[in-house]
Amino acid sequence: MKNVGILISGRGSNFRALSDAIEAGRIPARISLVLSNRASAAGLELAKERNYATACIPSQGVDRDAYSRLLARELRSARVDLVCLAGFMRILGPELVKQYPLRILNIHPSLLPAFTGLHAQRQALEWGAKVTGCTVHFVDEKLDHGPIILQYPVPVEEGDTEESLSARILVHEHQIYPEALKLLCQGRVRVKGRSVRILPGGPQI
Ligand code: GRF
Repeated sequence: MKNVGILISGRGSNFRALSDAIEAGRIPARISLVLSNRASAAGLELAKERNYATACIPSQGVDRDAYSRLLARELRSARVDLVCLAGFMRILGPELVKQYPLRILNIHPSLLPAFTGLHAQRQALEWGAKVTGCTVHFVDEKLDHGPIILQYPVPVEEGDTEESLSARILVHEHQIYPEALKLLCQGRVRVKGRSVRILPGGPQI
């Protein structure tokens, strides 16, 4: 059973989706820590309601490496094996990433490598993309860059706004993130360079 640490900054709807799947027994994992860099994160309230161990480490004014050291300490003391970034608005320092090789996941609301960074849905609209979507990938030292585990395409519709497109993508984020975590926890993910192979077996969730 893997110990999962979930890092959030805000709403926490992806955290909720991961928690729902874990609590329903669909992922062989337990959530050993929910950590936010913002005290006001709504996801933190949900984590408390669900009786998870929580931590808030404010990041404002703390540089990346110093912040990463604080995170590393929390993750270690909660015996976290796998980290899920779920709307976590800080970039992890390279030292921290190296401590969890192929053990940190992120969800990004575009089909990477398109539209990295902030406001990916707005970027897709402004670019005039016909299709965008979401990606679960391993975190490496570069932003939105590591090997891709799962992606799901979402067509851009006539008249879409940033809000309407984001809402349609989010539905699929909530499906592929738990699915990717399940595959990892089941030991069904093989990585060779940038290539991720999913071994067959087990039912879809
Ligand atoms: C999601 O769109 C996710 O893809 C992005 O940040 C947003 C977080 O939403 N990284 P939530 O806090 O999980 O609701």
